[in-house]
Amino acid sequence: MSMEMTAWNAMYNARHAKDDQRPFSKETFRRIGGFARPHRRALVAFLVLSVATALLAVATPVLAGRVVNAISDGAAESTVVRLALLIAAIALAEAGIGLAARWLSARIGEGLILDLRTTVYDHVQRMPVAFFTRTRTGALVSRLNSDVIGAQRAFSGTLSGVLSNVVMLLLALGVMVSISWQITLLALALLPVFVLPARRMGARLARLSREAANHNAVMSTQMTERFSAPGATLVKLYGRPAEESAEFAARAGRVRDIGIRTAMLQMVFVTALTLVSALALALVYGLGGFYALRGSLDPGAVVALAMLLTRLYAPLTSLASARVEVMSALVSFQRVFEVLDLRPLIEERADARPVPEGPVSVEFDAVDFAYPAADRVSLASLEEVATLDTRGGDQVLHGVSFRVEPGRLVALVGSSGAGKSTIAQLAPRLYDADAGAVRVGGVDVQDLTADSLRATLGLVTQDGHLFHDTIRANLLLPRPDADDSEVWDALRRSRLDALVASLPDGLDTVVGERGYRLSGGERQRLTIARLLLARPRVVILDEATAHLDATSEAAVQEALGEALAGRTSVVIAHRLSTVRAADEILVIEGGRIVERGTHESLLAAGGRYEELYTTQFDTGLDGGLGGGLDPREEPAATPAG
Ligand SMILES: Nc1ncnc2c1ncn2[C@@H]1O[C@H](COP(=O)(O)OP(=O)(O)OP(=O)(O)O)[C@@H](O)[C@H]1O
Ligand SMILES: [Mg+2]
Repeated sequence: MSMEMTAWNAMYNARHAKDDQRPFSKETFRRIGGFARPHRRALVAFLVLSVATALLAVATPVLAGRVVNAISDGAAESTVVRLALLIAAIALAEAGIGLAARWLSARIGEGLILDLRTTVYDHVQRMPVAFFTRTRTGALVSRLNSDVIGAQRAFSGTLSGVLSNVVMLLLALGVMVSISWQITLLALALLPVFVLPARRMGARLARLSREAANHNAVMSTQMTERFSAPGATLVKLYGRPAEESAEFAARAGRVRDIGIRTAMLQMVFVTALTLVSALALALVYGLGGFYALRGSLDPGAVVALAMLLTRLYAPLTSLASARVEVMSALVSFQRVFEVLDLRPLIEERADARPVPEGPVSVEFDAVDFAYPAADRVSLASLEEVATLDTRGGDQVLHGVSFRVEPGRLVALVGSSGAGKSTIAQLAPRLYDADAGAVRVGGVDVQDLTADSLRATLGLVTQDGHLFHDTIRANLLLPRPDADDSEVWDALRRSRLDALVASLPDGLDTVVGERGYRLSGGERQRLTIARLLLARPRVVILDEATAHLDATSEAAVQEALGEALAGRTSVVIAHRLSTVRAADEILVIEGGRIVERGTHESLLAAGGRYEELYTTQFDTGLDGGLGGGLDPREEPAATPAG
């Protein structure tokens, strides 16, 4: 490794050190050991090679000194040739070992990245929805990327670097002292001149790089938020583009200034290092030459000393930064472990069983529920807040009990924020009830396997999320094995076939981020098509509140009729037509079921339902009292009215 390289590494490490230097527990080291274990053979081989490299690096100067002595002593030519051949052999060995060591360290490092990444990904995937409602995607992604890479540096960089550097340093020092302790001492005396300012400069660089990192983080958050379809729309409608641009430019400008400062500081650092080692070299030549002329040192010793000097300074500088490097790698490990330590609140029991065969019922039995407090599901550093909110959430559901018989339809109605969507999320175990039980097919959902529950229940959420992918990929999500004819059948039944057929790319049309390239009604119908393809036995439908035009409304209504036919259904209804078709209507207010019955009986009772009926329901074109489409019948093409 050249001295410049070492200097660059030292600077790099100082820049990437984090202030956060908490004490590291034995546990952390034990866990790191756990990740290293699969690579232990490669690690041992790598360490052996590192030591061999250090030994060879010190051997060459000693041999070079012998050559010079042989020449000045007028030894036999064969001696010089033999020594030169030996030096050549060492060079070859160094090259070979260097390649092998690099191969090993790359394998270890990349293997470690792979292990850490897949572990974190698997783990994050198992986290409950509550976790994702709180974390910022950017913060999470950086755990998966930069911290994993930071942790890997501990292995391929530091571990071997420290060991081979210590070996090289001690060997070089030992040989130098044995040649001339006076010159060695003087050469080393110059070192503080370089090391002390370098440390101060390292700290300054670290500060600057942290500031730059913060600016970059803010800029990328700004970009990801503003340059998404919903964000961009919001900015167009309400934003102040000139001010946002100015703010962005100010930050980018500061990053440029820091970049220039950093480059200059680095150059000063490298120049200082080069200068000091060149001065030390001059000292060795001067003093060594002086002694050689006086006969107290042979010429070969001077050459050996000069060459060893470079092998002394290089490891010294990299060791100076090793502490910082180890610290920052450990911090990265800790940040990764922090994520791994978050326990998924909702996990499948070891003795979980599948949902019983045949038509199934859905039952809520005295269910209480509060959204989990932040400290149970998340990490402050992922939410980008200083401390987590530890208060338990307010109770959202209070003793909710109802039963949907197999094949029946129950509608939930109530004001906004009453808890309807919350109820919908408990059946597929997006959250678990705090008290009481949610049963599917008579079995508590917590005793069911996740796979069978997923296959049994189909939940269409209010916002109907779509991935930025093709229509086909979005539809195949629940059933990757479905063929095109099944896909088209689902599209036909959700009244989307004509639209998709008219698109130039058909099923391969990419629907943009969150499905933004589709209209509200089309998006809803696409999520219904996905449901039809999944063929769940139970449908839980959180009807979107968006008002649709008459044609879309009719199409969505028809699609719904297909989706609900013959299935056990819970529908959170915003449309009168859906409500009227229900076997039972539950009126939810403040997390409680306040009324229940059929449309007629509830209207006759003249309570909260009647109020909702007159003020809230989207009666669409059916004029309030008229018969809306019954979503469970094979509907006509146009709404009655
Ligand atoms: N992830 C969450 N964390 C904490 N509280 C939440 C969360 N989601 C919803 N809430 C709260 O729970 C209550 C019930 O919300 P819910 O979404 O179930 O209402 P809703 O009846 O579906 O309303 P809408 O008709 O407007 O969709 C609300 O007070 C809401 O603020
Ligand atoms: Mg809702």
